[in-house]
Amino acid sequence: MTPIHDRPLPAGNELVQQLGCVTSTTLTSADRQALLRLFERSSPQTRRDRFHHALSVFPQTYLEDILAGRQLAIVARDVCHPDIYGEVVGLASAAPVPPQGTAEFAVWVDDAWQARGVGTLLTRAIFTELARRGLQTAVGIAEEGNIAVRRLIERVAPGFALRREEGVLMLAVPLHNWAPAGAPGIT
Ligand SMILES: CC(C)(COP(=O)(O)OP(=O)(O)OC[C@H]1O[C@@H](n2cnc3c(N)ncnc32)[C@H](O)[C@@H]1OP(=O)(O)O)[C@@H](O)C(=O)NCCC(=O)NCCS
Repeated sequence: MTPIHDRPLPAGNELVQQLGCVTSTTLTSADRQALLRLFERSSPQTRRDRFHHALSVFPQTYLEDILAGRQLAIVARDVCHPDIYGEVVGLASAAPVPPQGTAEFAVWVDDAWQARGVGTLLTRAIFTELARRGLQTAVGIAEEGNIAVRRLIERVAPGFALRREEGVLMLAVPLHNWAPAGAPGIT
């Protein structure tokens, strides 16, 4: 199916990158319900892999932080199917953590959209934006058995470092090659 180009995305969205039927854009305060729907559609395994617990509700503080812009957030939206046009099918977010110049990132894709390149799209978008903002390292936490995120990072950032800590994998990605000179970012 080809993307629909004659319909605007929800107001306030700025196109970041596009891959087939999915566009990555900034998040707006109007996305609250879409994020709650993404959570509802997510399987227990996906919730565990993303939040490291089998949560039954969207973590409230995290939801408010990304909606208010206190954390950097980029969403993936469907841009092909009229019935779900603009629906959020993935989310990448990041927030500064010690030491200086470091941000912790996380990526989350709707079960029905996994293994179709959406995670790659979002991860590239968030690394690019972090680098544009001057961050030097992105770190992520993954469950030991999370093969998908391992393969995702191997594909997107082959120079990443990996260490095991208290039963989880700590991923560290250097960002120095991620901000092309003069590249536009999210303002
Ligand atoms: C991890 C995650 C973000 C990957 O997103 P995605 O859209 O499925 O990833 P992509 O389609 O871009 O694929 C990236 C790589 O992962 C692989 N992959 C995706 N899903 C996979 C699965 N279920 N099993 C094994 N590999 C998988 C792809 O084959 C690809 O590897 P390749 O380049 O070697 O072929 C997604 O699976 C997800 O949301 N999981 C739950 C939350 C999570 O684990 N977040 C990461 C921790 S913060």
